[in-house]
Amino acid sequence: MPTTTQSPARKTATRTPSRDAIVLLKADHAEVKKMYKEYEKLVDGDADAATRGALATRICHALTAHATAEEELFYPAAREALTDEEMVDHADVEHACAKELITQIEGMHPDDSHYDAKVVVLCEYVAHHVKEEENELFPACRSSRKMDLKDLGARIAERKAEVLATLAAEHPGHAAGNGTRKVAPAARRTPA
Ligand SMILES: [Fe+2]
Ligand SMILES: [Fe+2]
Repeated sequence: MPTTTQSPARKTATRTPSRDAIVLLKADHAEVKKMYKEYEKLVDGDADAATRGALATRICHALTAHATAEEELFYPAAREALTDEEMVDHADVEHACAKELITQIEGMHPDDSHYDAKVVVLCEYVAHHVKEEENELFPACRSSRKMDLKDLGARIAERKAEVLATLAAEHPGHAAGNGTRKVAPAARRTPA
């Protein structure tokens, strides 16, 4: 007699659902904001170079992975969906400025002059950029209804993971914050 198969294995075989691209990117923004607040506390508490360097590297890596995925995947899709590309042009320029600061920070030792100032200014600058994305670009993209945000979310998650893995391999000692980090040009893309 045929049996109805309500196998419990069905549940375990379920793939991790892909997240909407905008939800995913906003979660990244929140994560960086949180790390920025932590960094400010470290500076206020005169934390040592290793501790500050490790967190600054995490911030730089998170921003690099996020920016790379936006530039390669989200922004091109936004250009196709929106009639006015000015917002995306603006975002590209802001990314270029942020990446210049990231490059400088990654070439420095945490005890170098202006190191903390650069990390703080980078985070403040990114906060401004994030506000524009969340208040203008993302709502315009969503209301256009021309972007497959689920598919884009899956591809963004995949690309971010690749970039983070590359950066981790290039900076195996970054957790020690030993100030010997080098710039990783392969993972940095210049905005079009
Ligand atoms: Fe961005
Ligand atoms: Fe963003």
